Formats: sequence, C-alpha cells, structure tokens
Amino acid sequence: MQQSDNQSDAINVVLWQYAKNGSDEERWMRSLSSNERERAATYRFERDRTSFIAGRYLLRQVLSAHTETQPDEVVLLADAYGMLTVEGRDTLQFSLSNADGLVAVAVTSECERVGIDCERPDAEIEAAALESYCSPDERRWLDQVPAGERPRAAVALWTLKESHLKALGVGLRQDPRSVAFSWQDGIPIQSGEPNRQWHHRLIESGSRHVVALAVRSQSGAPGIRVLTFQDDSMPSE
Ligand SMILES: CC(C)(COP(=O)(O)OP(=O)(O)OC[C@H]1O[C@@H](n2cnc3c(N)ncnc32)[C@H](O)[C@@H]1OP(=O)(O)O)[C@@H](O)C(=O)NCCC(=O)NCCS
Repeated sequence: MQQSDNQSDAINVVLWQYAKNGSDEERWMRSLSSNERERAATYRFERDRTSFIAGRYLLRQVLSAHTETQPDEVVLLADAYGMLTVEGRDTLQFSLSNADGLVAVAVTSECERVGIDCERPDAEIEAAALESYCSPDERRWLDQVPAGERPRAAVALWTLKESHLKALGVGLRQDPRSVAFSWQDGIPIQSGEPNRQWHHRLIESGSRHVVALAVRSQSGAPGIRVLTFQDDSMPSE
C-alpha cells in the first residue's frame, strides 16, 4: 500500500484539521440530517459537539463526491454497533474518526473492508492501560522503544488496533488484544495473518495526530491517496 497520486489508488484518505468558529459550525450543521442535529444537541461539552459535527460534515462532503448526491441528501444508516453505511451503496466502504481538531475519513469502492482511527498522542499511557490492550510481544516491543518515543508508539499500536476493529465493524466490543501487531521494515504486520488480506498503515497526518488505516483486500496492497480537505472547496492534495 503506497501513498501516491496515481489514478489506480484504491483508497482515499481525507484529513481535515478544522478551526473552531461558531458561524462555521452553523454552516456545517446545515448539511447534517435531523437525526444528526438531534444527536449534536445531546453533547454536554462543546468540544465533543464540534468534533461530532465536523466529522459528519466532512463525511458527507466526501460521500457526496463519491455518490454524486448532495451532502445533505446522503442517507446514512447505522447498524446495531454504530457502523455506518450509505443506503443503496453496499460496495462503498468508508470509515470516520475524529480526535480533537482532526477528522479523518477513508473511503473505497474497491476493498472489502476499511477502518480508520486517529488519536492525539498527548497522553502518557499508563502501564495498566497497556496491559489491557497489548499482547505480551507488543509490550516487549514497546519496552525496547526509546523512552522518548514510547508514548507515541503506544498510541500508534492503539490506533492500529482500533482501525482494525472498526474495519471489522465490531469496534471496542471486541478485545483489542485479539489483534496484535509486529513490524517488518517499519510496516505494521498483523500477527498470525498468513493470507495477507489485511493491510495496515500509519498515515502521515501533517499534524501531531497519529492516524492508522486498516484495509482488507483480496487483490493485494491497494494504493492510498492522502488528501487534505479545505473547507468550502473540493479536497486537494
Ligand atoms: C467504534 C469505536 C471504537 C469508535 O470509538 P472512538 O475512538 O470514540 O471514535 P472515533 O472518532 O475513532 O470513531 C467514531 C466513528 O466510528 C464509527 N463507528 C462507530 N461504531 C462503529 C463500529 N462498530 N464499527 C465501525 N465503525 C464504527 C462511526 O462512524 C463513528 O462516527 P460518529 O461518532 O460520527 O457516529 C467505539 O465507538 C466502539 O467501540 N463502538 C462499538 C461499541 C458499541 O456497541 N457501541 C454501541 C453504540 S450504537
């Protein structure tokens, strides 16, 4: 899987570092469905509400381009676990993630599964938390990472796992220890996956955020195109 700009790219990853501004938020809201607006109103903290609105705004912009439908007319359906699909577009696979200040959307019509996760690497992850999501091999690998790089490496492992569980549609209902990673030539490889249908990458986000992508494809490693979304315009590289 490469980050490239040729036409054979099978996956688009769209990143948006949004600035918070009250009037923008009202504009973003206008492309949301009534259900989404109701959900937005339930957030207690403004930061979480803005993050949700920005996420659905970008998602609708991206899906609009892929379905040739107006953003506010894209019909999103959620299954019992919260995974979204576009009504009538079963082959369109996509995934959304937001972390304070960044939204990431991955979309593809050519792969069977896709999951994306982004996180801010600010927080020190405590040893007890590592036990709850890392395998023993992963903990040994983390122990060997230089101390200054360890927090980001721990967050990278977390995002890899969460992107995979989102691609499966189960999210954190499934134990994150059920998927483990090792590294080959700097590329994350899922342990115990001999068929190599799954492909995992850490994406350069242009911000401090860590972004991980998980893809299942029968036809080898797909190309990835990473785009930066400019609000009020088409996504551009
Ligand atoms: C999926 C999950 C890991 C995301 O956690 P997070 O780090 O807080 O959030 P992210 O920003 O990375 O991702 C959020 C997006 O993931 C997607 N998502 C939610 N549940 C999902 C699932 N089961 N599979 C794949 N994607 C999912 C949604 O598009 C969501 O966007 P939204 O908040 O606008 O609806 C977490 O919500 C989860 O484990 N959900 C499943 C557990 C469950 O049963 N939830 C019931 C709610 S209906």
